[in-house]
Amino acid sequence: MINGKKVLFSGMQATGNLTLGNYLGALKNWVALSDEYECYYSVVDMHSITVRQDPAVLRKRARALMTIYIAAGLDPDKNCIYYQSHVSAHAELAWILNCYTYMGEMNRMTQFKDKAAKHADNINCGLFTYPVLMAADILLYQADVVPVGIDQMQHLEITRDIAQRFNGIYGETFTIPQAYVGKTGAKIMSLQNPEKKMSKSDENPNASIYLTDDPDTIMRKCRRAVTDSEAQILYRDEQPGVKNLLNIYCACTGKTPEEAVKEFDGRGYGDLKLAVGESVIAVLKPLQDRIAQIEKDKDYLDSHIKANAERAAYTATKTLRKVQRKVGFPDRIR
Ligand code: TRP
Repeated sequence: MINGKKVLFSGMQATGNLTLGNYLGALKNWVALSDEYECYYSVVDMHSITVRQDPAVLRKRARALMTIYIAAGLDPDKNCIYYQSHVSAHAELAWILNCYTYMGEMNRMTQFKDKAAKHADNINCGLFTYPVLMAADILLYQADVVPVGIDQMQHLEITRDIAQRFNGIYGETFTIPQAYVGKTGAKIMSLQNPEKKMSKSDENPNASIYLTDDPDTIMRKCRRAVTDSEAQILYRDEQPGVKNLLNIYCACTGKTPEEAVKEFDGRGYGDLKLAVGESVIAVLKPLQDRIAQIEKDKDYLDSHIKANAERAAYTATKTLRKVQRKVGFPDRIR
């Protein structure tokens, strides 16, 4: 508890261009939660180097992500939004927790297996212990809740296991975090293959709408979205492409699927796609304008990056010192 509020931690990687799926599925939720919780939202750049990055590109994208956090509505005076690499306690706690995590546990991580297969030429130790760094992120802030997608659930489970193990040996040290599973959080699927999640790493640029896409591009991608030959607009699993378009439409307009289905009753897919495109533009255009606004004021962003890194470091160091003491590191001489 901080200021009478529960603590929330989450992070996002600055790799790839953020998609509409990231925005509607994650960021928008983060903003909705930011009043209720004491929030830490990190740009997890240390996780990003578990696969090779172009340094200049990583730096640029990290700053762009920070800008998007704010543009999406996370007030940097209220939410601690910061770069993971600016707070050295993350690396320090991760090292300690590595010594309380078993190889066998990491071996079971499905994301490691997937990524190792994808980057067979660079299966490094950081990729292997990625979940331990994630555990350090969460535990440093004594987070109560962690909003994560289903793909990160296993990492959250291992975080809980590590925390419980440590608490079991040394006594109450870490808060055991819980997954925050949002209300029917909008899960946005690929426009080209509606069985697959919309992903920033999809090779097919038509599969995803990027937050930076201009209106023409958005319209074109919506027009090309894969549907089916049923020629009826119903909200059901048998029509995954149409269902996905309706989900996007509802997430962007705040309408319910029932309302949307009624609205499109008797109309064709062309109409639906047009309406979806327009609803997406109505959400993304203002976001893009705010991004441009923030980019213009370098000092504004810089000052918040500095202040929030200090704030994060203060809290994180408190936990780190406690842990260092428990495992037997000598006290610092002051
Ligand atoms: N691994 C997460 C992802 O790729 C990002 C992340 C890093 C994270 N540390 C975290 C998410 C801590 C939640 C909490 O999506």
